[in-house]
Amino acid sequence: MRQLLIATRNPGKVREIKDILQDISYEIKSLDDIGYKENVEETGKSYEENAILKAKTIGKETNLLTIGEDSGLEIDMLEGWPAIHSARHTLGTDDDKIDKILEKLSSVPREKRTARYKSVIALYDPVSHKVQTFDGSCEGYITEKRIGKNGFGYDPIFWSKDLGKTFGQAEDREKNRISHRARALLKLKKILNTKVSIENHFGGVMNSDE
Ligand code: IMP
Repeated sequence: MRQLLIATRNPGKVREIKDILQDISYEIKSLDDIGYKENVEETGKSYEENAILKAKTIGKETNLLTIGEDSGLEIDMLEGWPAIHSARHTLGTDDDKIDKILEKLSSVPREKRTARYKSVIALYDPVSHKVQTFDGSCEGYITEKRIGKNGFGYDPIFWSKDLGKTFGQAEDREKNRISHRARALLKLKKILNTKVSIENHFGGVMNSDE
């Protein structure tokens, strides 16, 4: 069976991606599964640039069909911040980052706390050297306090319009049906499940990097 490498070290993302892609006919590997130790610096200026950077850098080194993912939380009242800086906007733990957001929104009423998660997945094929991207988003509100302990990152303060509760309260299978990452991965799946061989398909539609 062909292998598909997930180029991320975030255990929350790995768990979700493996779960969402469990029915494809590829053996899914994480960086830990293959003992890959390097880190790719996220120097891109957009989710797309960062996703491509991760997929291409690691796909070229490992010679495996590789997906890179970049995602973030965009808060309307903060002009879209923290977006691509979601993982690193404040030093410290995920809890410190949540506290910073709650502090910035402390005087903002519920109806103005609109936000969305965005995800871009890049698929890199080391045979054809081609890359293709897929995006997804999901809408919600930032709550006034943490609600629920499931998920990872900002999930306890992200109230999903689709689910009517926070991602922190959602079961994995609920979040993985409607999340930004699930929506991007669904588009990817359509390509991976195609009857045409992956190299042929990419030869036809993907953007070459060389
Ligand atoms: P990056 O894609 O590695 O730059 O990290 C994205 C950051 O956005 C994560 O570290 C989280 O803080 C946040 N994030 C992205 N997707 C999710 C999600 O599904 N749940 C919670 N936080 C997320």
